[in-house]
This record gives sequence, C-alpha cells and structure tokens, in this order.
Amino acid sequence: MKVGVFDSGLGGLTIVRTMLEKLQSAEIIYVADTANAPYGEKTKEQILAFSIAITEYLISHHRIDALVVACNTATSAAISELREKYPDLIIVGTEPGLKPAISHSVSKNVGVLATPATLNGEKYKALVSMLCEHYHVRVFEQPCPGLVQQIESGDTDTPKTLEMLEGWLKPMRDANVDTIVLGCTHYPLVKNAIERVMGRPITFVESAEGVTNRLLCLLEQKGEASDGETTLKLFATGPIETGMVKNILGEKFSVAMINSLD
Ligand code: DGL
Repeated sequence: MKVGVFDSGLGGLTIVRTMLEKLQSAEIIYVADTANAPYGEKTKEQILAFSIAITEYLISHHRIDALVVACNTATSAAISELREKYPDLIIVGTEPGLKPAISHSVSKNVGVLATPATLNGEKYKALVSMLCEHYHVRVFEQPCPGLVQQIESGDTDTPKTLEMLEGWLKPMRDANVDTIVLGCTHYPLVKNAIERVMGRPITFVESAEGVTNRLLCLLEQKGEASDGETTLKLFATGPIETGMVKNILGEKFSVAMINSLD
C-alpha cells in the first residue's frame, strides 16, 4: 500500500512521524514543496494548482493508493477539488482541531494559530461561528505570517522567532487562554517556544493522531491494512534544511531532490 503525503515543507513531517509509528506495511512517499513555500500567504488558486501538480506526480510516478494532505492550508484550498478530481483515491486532509480544543479548555478561552489562508477559509469560518454560538467559548485567532519561514530555516527558538510569538500570543496570554490549536502542521515544531512565551502550561491540539487514525480507518475499510514494516521516501522540490528533517524524524532518512513534477 502506497501513501503519498505532501506539505509546503517540513510541517507535514510532524504527521509522518506519527504515521511511521502507527502504519503497518505501508510505503510512504513524502513531497515537501519547498520551491513554493510558504503556502499560507498564497492565493487559493495558486495553492490548488500546487496541490494538483503534486497529486499528479504522486499518482504517475509512485502509483499511490492514498493521499494525505499534511497541510491545513492546502486542505482548506484544495481538498474538495482533489476529492472530485480523484474519486478512486483515498484522501485524508488536515483541519484545525477546534472541537477537541473546546472540550479540553477549562477557561473556555481557546487560541487558534494558523496561516492567513487557513483562517480565511470558508469552511473554517463557518465551523468557528457555529461552535462559538453552541458552546459559548471565546476563540482567539492568530495568523502567523513569517513563522513558517522561520521554522523552515531551523530558527525554532531564536530571539526573532520568540519576538514574533510574543506579539501574536500577548492577547491570548492576557485572556487566560489555556488551550491552543496548532492549525498549521509546522507549528508543533515551535510548541516549546509557544509555551515559554505563554508562561504557563498549555494544552496543545495537534492533528497528527487524528489524521493517522482517519487514514487507518479508511485503509481498513478498503481491506488495505496488513502487517509489516513501513518505509519512507522523502522528496523536496527546492532547498530544505536537512538538520531539521533529522530533528523531526531521526538520522535514518535522507531527502532526494525533484527537479520537476512532470
Ligand atoms: N504546514 C502548512 C499548514 O499546515 C503550510 C504552511 C505554509 O506553507 O504556509 O498550513
């Protein structure tokens, strides 16, 4: 069983990390679209075009059975079109875990950190207003333009990154936010820095477990689950910080360059 996974860069590896622990006998093929990163500050049309080009590549070059869009931004911009265009492919997307955050929060003040494109997505906006009305919670949304670039450069803990977080997190700190949704797959890589800036223990809601469980469930339904080792091949469309890949996945994996998705 071959599972294609993509993101604009390193972020989706936070999901692959969990997939490697839980999937049996799968071949994971990961594409980091660093030539086009960051996605979060691009238009819906651009993100859709990147998503289709990568999916085509994964189908034609690797004959994937399933696709994981390990990117909240690409899920928001492209998941409906991908499902329509590839009806026979198992497709799993990544969405900010607002519902679990609301049920975890004691203060009922919840933070959401995501890219500008994700926070502007129609589906996300409808979900927030429905949940706020229903559960009487306050949701503090914060776009973090520039944070993905810091993470891609390996600057997860530098003074500049901490200063950016300080500005974005102050309203959440002042409002006693106790639960933060990491609505971008890059952001688990700055979880420690976020907690440090918040100055108290925070419950983080991430997507890796949910996405992996959903994939397992769909594979089982299709009779694709089996026993054995799971392997991983990593590809990037542009430069990538290999030290960060090792930090996330360990020493075992190296990244190959794709010069063209054709
Ligand atoms: N990791 C991505 C996400 O989950 C995309 C970040 C970006 O390229 O802006 O949204």
